[in-house]
Amino acid sequence: MSLFRWSKDHSVYLPEIDAEHRGLCRIGAELHQAMVAGGKPAQLRPILANLMEAVDEHFRHEERLMKVVHYAAYDWHKRQHDTIRKRLRLTIKQVDAGDADCCTGLVKYLNTWLGDHMTVTDRMMGAFIRNYLRFNTALAS
Ligand SMILES: [Fe+2]
Ligand SMILES: [Fe+2]
Repeated sequence: MSLFRWSKDHSVYLPEIDAEHRGLCRIGAELHQAMVAGGKPAQLRPILANLMEAVDEHFRHEERLMKVVHYAAYDWHKRQHDTIRKRLRLTIKQVDAGDADCCTGLVKYLNTWLGDHMTVTDRMMGAFIRNYLRFNTALAS
């Protein structure tokens, strides 16, 4: 079964954000493949570190955008990001303690979470940002 497949159905109609989502899916798929191949903690650790860095960078980007447009659902959206930050930190700790199997749970959870988050939470944010930009462009012209 292939996980972390980005398709147009996941688009939030903000090209930069879509590109970052595709990047996260690529690292997620890499982690999944390493797990399927029986990856040991030493092999999984650098992929997890990459994932954590890319996820955090992406979340901070969205959080900056939401602040700029005074997005009302900022706290709700950020809480969802924080749940994943916490989950990733926990998994990294477990892998550092020699537990490679914990990645199986993370991969399944993250695959479902990312699909749901992109198609609901991020899409709502995308619609708000596009409306904000349209409105402000119309005011400026
Ligand atoms: Fe998000
Ligand atoms: Fe996102």
